[in-house]
Amino acid sequence: MTNKTYRIAPSILSADFANLGQEVRDVIAAGADWIHFDVMDNHYVPNLTFGPMVCQALKPHAKTPAGVAVPIDVHLMVSPVDPLAAAFAQAGADLVSFHPDASTHVHRSIQALKGHGVKVGLTFNPAEPLDVLDWVIDDIDLVLIMSVNPGFGGQSFIDSALRKIENVRKRIDACGKDIRLEVDGGIKTDNIAQVAAAGADTFVAGSAIFGKPDYASVIRDMRTALAA
Ligand code: DX5
Ligand code: ZN
Repeated sequence: MTNKTYRIAPSILSADFANLGQEVRDVIAAGADWIHFDVMDNHYVPNLTFGPMVCQALKPHAKTPAGVAVPIDVHLMVSPVDPLAAAFAQAGADLVSFHPDASTHVHRSIQALKGHGVKVGLTFNPAEPLDVLDWVIDDIDLVLIMSVNPGFGGQSFIDSALRKIENVRKRIDACGKDIRLEVDGGIKTDNIAQVAAAGADTFVAGSAIFGKPDYASVIRDMRTALAA
């Protein structure tokens, strides 16, 4: 059954890079549950963004106005994976997701991350099969389904992701562990309810939130759509 405590995870890929600390504080004050941190290496994906030093610099900003820490949800679009595990754990990442096709030894990468005390997610591109979940679902905390090809914000939602989310939801329910089902790419106020109905409980949104002047009203509209 879908975890009804929905989480909204704004991606700072679409934030103002000249003003990142303030952007993180503003989007948390606007109601963000997690901060989604898209790491791109110009190798696994064509784009290039930021690494552990920027994560560390933002960590003190990732808290509510009352001082409650907000999780940093790191999405690694890098290959290889393992050399960055320690760096992101030390930089304050709370969850780290990686793409199984970017790691030669997926089980080892999961263990490496867990050994550094972070929660671990596996991320699946639109055309990537879910087969590795047959073997490692008990070892992870999150499944991140890409509903766009990784590398850029502002792309359109790929509809086949809905079937994939339904498939993952069945696997999570069958294994019985508390595993988040997150979706990344093309999430807007007008499709978030459909994505939740397919079984997702955590929603990355970059351009939909940072592309608007009033972050709080977008997040509020998303929660209203989820509640309907
Ligand atoms: C794409 C990134 C996404 C991206 C989503 O590689 O993983 O997190 O920022 O952006 P929107 O919400 O604009 O599709
Ligand atoms: Zn992402």
